[in-house]
Amino acid sequence: MLIKIPRGWERPEREATDEALFRDRRRLVRSIAAGPVLLMGGAAGLLTGCDDEARAEADPSAGLYPVNRNLRYRLDREVTSEKLATTYNNFYEFGSHKEIAKAAQAMRIRPWEVRIDGMVEKEFTIAIDDLLNRMPLEERLYRHRCVEAWSMDVPWSGFPFKALVDLARPLGNAKYVVMETLADKETMPGLRQTWYPWPYIDGLTIEEATNELAFLVTGAYGKPVPKQMGAPLRLAVPWKYGFKSIKSIVRFSFTDQRPVNFWQEVQGAEYGFWANVNPEVPHPRWSQATERVLGGGRVPTRLFNGYGEFVAHMYKGLEGEKLFM
Ligand code: MTE
Repeated sequence: MLIKIPRGWERPEREATDEALFRDRRRLVRSIAAGPVLLMGGAAGLLTGCDDEARAEADPSAGLYPVNRNLRYRLDREVTSEKLATTYNNFYEFGSHKEIAKAAQAMRIRPWEVRIDGMVEKEFTIAIDDLLNRMPLEERLYRHRCVEAWSMDVPWSGFPFKALVDLARPLGNAKYVVMETLADKETMPGLRQTWYPWPYIDGLTIEEATNELAFLVTGAYGKPVPKQMGAPLRLAVPWKYGFKSIKSIVRFSFTDQRPVNFWQEVQGAEYGFWANVNPEVPHPRWSQATERVLGGGRVPTRLFNGYGEFVAHMYKGLEGEKLFM
């Protein structure tokens, strides 16, 4: 998001960890045998390097991937290189710039519990690995269009959001599902930027959440989804601007009240609840007509990011709403 509230004392997060200290931690990680000790919550916190091998060893879900690709969801562009997609990220909990991948390795993703509450038959908490075992995992190739006018094309693994809604059993009068990101002051330096309304939240209508395109992501590029992309559980709603695709989710709350999401709270004149992609509705400060494809050139942006056939019907009769911001 192109919002920068400068503070005199603010220092880029990448300067905050001394390089030598960082190298020492990596050496420590390498020197620990890749045994079961790495699977334990406390030890996983030591993994501060951006090392693919270490990540795979530490994540007990690694054996689930790759999963079968669902060919219903196709791209008309090349898949973005894994290197680019995993090193150019928005995750404000780790800093308000794109190079947060290393800092994000400090996040502890086991144990990880997901709370289901609010207007449901019975509230409950489920451990991420139990959830993964119960959900039908598949791979989908999806476009991703950030409100900042860059885009990428990613092989996500995960399960339809509808499967989680079925598990949650919302009451008939629930209208929205609100998701919340982990907010851990110890591992997320961005939380020191106290002018942001942490925790990061975002929401969908139940109709949107149960639309076939709404996908809960647990993997990417045939592996567990990396921390910087929102491990162990994030959303992908590819017809909406990327800020709706909330990362590292710890809570799903069902409600009859429309939520005010994180970016709406920060800048309500620029970001709204619906945030559907539309090249003809400019952001107040820039055009949305085109997008820069990561690793490629500039291309025209498409209505609903090209997914109109799946989702346009949900917005009939809502023309009075700000559907595209
Ligand atoms: N979720 C949380 N918790 N914090 C964030 O800062 N950024 C959003 C979204 N989800 C964000 C978030 C934005 S603006 C985008 S474009 C995507 O994550 C970026 O996802 P990526 O880093 O996997 O490309």
